Amino acid sequence: MRILVTGANGQLGSDVVDCLLQNGHEVIRAHKEDCDITDAAAVYGYFDSVAPEAVIHCAAYTAVDRAESDREACFAVNVTGSENVAKAAEKHRAKCVYISSDYVFDGEGEIPFETDGKKGPKNYYGLTKLEGENATLENCTRAFIVRISWVFGMNGGNFVKTIARISAENDEINVVDDQVGSPTYTKDVSRVLAEMVTTEKYGVYHVTNEGFCSWREFAGEIIKITGENCRVNPVTSAEYPRPALRPLNSRLSKRSLDENGFDRLPSWQNALARFLEEYRQ
Ligand SMILES: NC(=O)c1ccc[n+]([C@@H]2O[C@H](COP(=O)([O-])OP(=O)(O)OC[C@H]3O[C@@H](n4cnc5c(N)ncnc54)[C@H](OP(=O)(O)O)[C@@H]3O)[C@@H](O)[C@H]2O)c1
Repeated sequence: MRILVTGANGQLGSDVVDCLLQNGHEVIRAHKEDCDITDAAAVYGYFDSVAPEAVIHCAAYTAVDRAESDREACFAVNVTGSENVAKAAEKHRAKCVYISSDYVFDGEGEIPFETDGKKGPKNYYGLTKLEGENATLENCTRAFIVRISWVFGMNGGNFVKTIARISAENDEINVVDDQVGSPTYTKDVSRVLAEMVTTEKYGVYHVTNEGFCSWREFAGEIIKITGENCRVNPVTSAEYPRPALRPLNSRLSKRSLDENGFDRLPSWQNALARFLEEYRQ
């Protein structure tokens, strides 16, 4: 297939590109310089020139805390930009895979959210990701919504790299223990996306590595693997205030993945071990 990837330089986009190429697809890497998704004319022009059969839309405004004070820019990319991409995909009768987030949910309770669970973003970024989902579903008939969470990959700053670094520099660190979710390795998500995009099983999916943990437990596992001598002290979200609130419950149900015959991802511990092995080389 001829597949366009937005945000092709990003943490997820770069691994999506590699995975699609490995699967024998023709890949068009869209970068902000040649396809600024906030510019409708630029998006239409770009799609017209490359005529994709599908788009995997990884581009987004992802600075969660900055978004609270930079709302216009965040909205322009995540909502207007996603609407532009969905409309351009529709014009070309192309499939559109929109990458979304656990932050669309309200984070209440302790059970995993089903794909149609109660929405209620706790922060502005989450609100724009939800509106981006809606813009995609309203404007593209061949749409996949894929929610991921707690992402780590080789090509970007992320929690794993941060903990690996600060645990080497400190005897103890404080890490939030009351937010629970699933880490997600970009390479593992990419495999599912590469398979999904070849199907017509449109709909909403949750794609994360298997198992749940708190950020503290995640940090503990990172340090266990790296072998640093650093204690991880649990703190609450209230003790570690940030500009954007985070949901406490980010557990996502994989029911739609199962029902549509897609394999679940390996456990987050397995994914982390593979990532660190490569990262530490
Ligand atoms: N990271 C997480 O923990 C996480 C969690 C849940 C969901 N997600 C979602 O997963 C997806 C991928 O995230 P990521 O971590 O890979 O993000 P990322 O590394 O920040 O990459 C985002 C990409 O979007 C591009 N972009 C930004 N504004 C653009 C514009 N106006 N036009 C075209 N491209 C633009 C960026 O290009 P430049 O580099 O040139 O600015 C960058 O390549 C996003 O939809 C995000 O919301 C991420």
